[in-house]
Amino acid sequence: MMGMRKMIALGRRIRRRLFSKTEQDPAPKPALSAANLDELRAALRAGNSEKYGGNPLISIGDFTYGLPEISLLPSDDTPRVTIGKFCSIAPGVVFLGNCEHHTDWHSTFPFNVFLTEHAGISGHPFGKGDIVVGNDVWIARDARILSGVTIGDGAVIAAGALVTKDVPPYTIAGGVPAKPIKARFSHAITEKLLEMAWWSWPDERIFEAVPLLQSNDFNALHDYYTKKIKDSLRQ
Ligand SMILES: CC(C)(COP(=O)(O)OP(=O)(O)OC[C@H]1O[C@@H](n2cnc3c(N)ncnc32)[C@H](O)[C@@H]1OP(=O)(O)O)[C@@H](O)C(=O)NCCC(=O)NCCS
Repeated sequence: MMGMRKMIALGRRIRRRLFSKTEQDPAPKPALSAANLDELRAALRAGNSEKYGGNPLISIGDFTYGLPEISLLPSDDTPRVTIGKFCSIAPGVVFLGNCEHHTDWHSTFPFNVFLTEHAGISGHPFGKGDIVVGNDVWIARDARILSGVTIGDGAVIAAGALVTKDVPPYTIAGGVPAKPIKARFSHAITEKLLEMAWWSWPDERIFEAVPLLQSNDFNALHDYYTKKIKDSLRQ
């Protein structure tokens, strides 16, 4: 077991490596290296809990990295932000949890926030619902996600996107407001990837399958799944 201090130090090292300002420092960085998934999980968990620890409204799955800005203001019913496992979140990504002003009220000015005498006015700020991000989602640089949105497993959010509506699994969405740009795979392959749900395999299987996960040989990945995951579940 890794001690808490060591985990936090490793988490900081990982953050520095992943988010170093490469535009100011063109020298290539050594690849981030953890010996195994256990060590990587511990380090990334430590980084996440250092940033969001203690906020019961934020849940971040194992191996997800990136430490986005998550705006959750105290309000009557603050939404939750749930992010799945193995997500890659680029610098500049913002989750706007409940930062809405009422456009249907006569004034959008937050009198109730600034004036104690009017603190009893409820409904400002508000959110449109929870934000849910699936597993193995890549959210690219400077994307912003509004409240009430669900992003499916395997989706990609393009750089600079403003996501106002749900994004289906394995879909690339981009633009302001974000629209589907294309499906990453055929419908049949998407269905099978969702059935395989590799992110929920035992660690040792994921570790073994890394060369298949970082490839586009779908048949090889599916064969692996059939032999090592599906059949073993049947036994
Ligand atoms: C979306 C993205 C992943 C490219 O995906 P792709 O499958 O290679 O897409 P293509 O380059 O073939 O572009 C497909 C279409 O999407 C458009 N497009 C590409 N990136 C876009 C973006 N960020 N926003 C809006 N539209 C975009 C292209 O102009 C093209 O439009 P067209 O079909 O009208 O010609 C990439 O452009 C991107 O946004 N990368 C993010 C990089 C980043 O932020 N990295 C952070 C480090 S983790």
